[in-house]
Amino acid sequence: MAISTVDIPDPEVVATYHGRNPYREFLATEGLPVYEEYSVDCKMLELAPWQRLGGLGAYVHLTGRSDFLNAFVHEIPPGGQTKLEHHLFEKLVHVISGRGSTAIELPDGRRHIFEWAEGAAFGIPLNAKHQYFNGSGTEPARLASVTTLPIMMGLFHNSPDFIFENPWVFPQRFGDERYFNGEGEFRPVRAGAHQWETNFVPNLNTLELPIWHERGAAGSSITLTFAESVMHSHISHFDSGTYKKGHFHNAGANIFLVSGHGYSLLWKAGEDPLNSVRVDWKPGVLFAPPDGPTYHQHFNTSAGPARYLVFGPFGSRRYNVLESHKTGDGADVSAKEGGYQVEYEDEDPRILELFEQECAKHGTPCKMREFLGR
Ligand SMILES: [Fe+2]
Repeated sequence: MAISTVDIPDPEVVATYHGRNPYREFLATEGLPVYEEYSVDCKMLELAPWQRLGGLGAYVHLTGRSDFLNAFVHEIPPGGQTKLEHHLFEKLVHVISGRGSTAIELPDGRRHIFEWAEGAAFGIPLNAKHQYFNGSGTEPARLASVTTLPIMMGLFHNSPDFIFENPWVFPQRFGDERYFNGEGEFRPVRAGAHQWETNFVPNLNTLELPIWHERGAAGSSITLTFAESVMHSHISHFDSGTYKKGHFHNAGANIFLVSGHGYSLLWKAGEDPLNSVRVDWKPGVLFAPPDGPTYHQHFNTSAGPARYLVFGPFGSRRYNVLESHKTGDGADVSAKEGGYQVEYEDEDPRILELFEQECAKHGTPCKMREFLGR
């Protein structure tokens, strides 16, 4: 047959050999809602029964989730439990509400159980058998997870059993058994890059964090190295009436507000920071700055401190994975010096004006003039 005489083929036939997305094809088998949003409130999302895992669920595709990662919310009914599962993709989990426990099968076959409650976070070691239990007979428990499923399903397409039925054990991913009890090791690197190596943080609000002056307003932060993950994670703290410096980095940083209230401004280079995207936050809100890149800046208007948890981007501080996107590099260096940060003296003066107005609305004293020197 002469190629020059080929007729335009049936689009449905073409769809079998052109432009396929194995992750999306898998998603279609899950029977769950998929929220495609700039930001969501994980506490309020409507969920549907999840046949594969038990309980209720919904996938969350944030505008800034990146090509590598996804998120989902999973609810375990009162007194309920999920089905035993294991999978060849990584999963970092944040407890949105309720209390319960996770059972993990260790490499030697023993079963280890740890208990969690709202405000906790943990990492499931790659391909570890695990199961969740709700610890309350009257209240649901809601978990939010960020995973590497999209990239893994894309790489091993047409073979979901390779992902979900793979017997391989990765002993090094489990770390010390103490890590499942909330203990860990502090791995000093430098401000902004120090690591807390663990598998479980029982309370993100009380974890001690080293100060990170370069990001502004005497905020503090620590990298969380969960289960030798290739996904970055960190927890950040900033005081009442303060805000961090604006900066940008690659997409995929899923930001969960853990405590406090306030807002974030997000804008692309050349856009007006005050007339682009604003995400108002409270515990349970999740958003991710998209590629572009997108500058973003976080503002705490609450009477107490605010903390947020980040899962992603793909490529952790321990395992960069992507040579082109080394997580964290340049995030606290001025854009004028080749980094990705807007120093206070370079920011739009209306940012402070807006913040003072927003603090006044909540009766929160604004402490920023002492950091800005204005
Ligand atoms: Fe950021």
